[in-house]
Amino acid sequence: MRQIWRACWIGVVVVWAVGVPAAEGGDPAIGEPLYERYCAACHGINGRGNGPAAAALRPQPIDMTEPVWQQGVSDDYLRRIIRDGGTAVGRSPQMAPWGFALDDQGLDDMVAYIRTLGEDAAR
Ligand code: HEC
Repeated sequence: MRQIWRACWIGVVVVWAVGVPAAEGGDPAIGEPLYERYCAACHGINGRGNGPAAAALRPQPIDMTEPVWQQGVSDDYLRRIIRDGGTAVGRSPQMAPWGFALDDQGLDDMVAYIRTLGEDAAR
């Protein structure tokens, strides 16, 4: 009997941990591998802006784990610069548009994952 209760509790915790989306409709667990594939070369695996390709970039990508930065950018802004690229929001063209690779759901998943980068730093 005790084991059954324990199994139930683990179930509840897993559903809670996985089921609470960081951004509306986005799933950070789906965003993470997309980030690693498309973004980490410049933005760094942890989002600190220190990927292997970042040294050659001017300006360099910012540290996305910074709580001040996280609070200063809206989900809409993130979706826009990721989909349409830096030039769409008056930033560097070296931030390319990724709309060809990410559909609306992919963008939401990516934004959700970027939000978890800030949580990691706060821990
Ligand atoms: C070729 C390198 C490169 C790749 C790959 C890249 N970025 Fe960027 N990104 C940049 C640079 C450089 C900037 C800074 C632009 C500026 O400050 O003008 C930037 C800026 C950003 C910003 C805005 C930061 C701010 O301060 O407002 C976000 C968000 C972002 N990138 C997300 C992504 C995501 C998500 C991906 C993957 C889908 C990605 N980037 C792929 C180079 C890159």
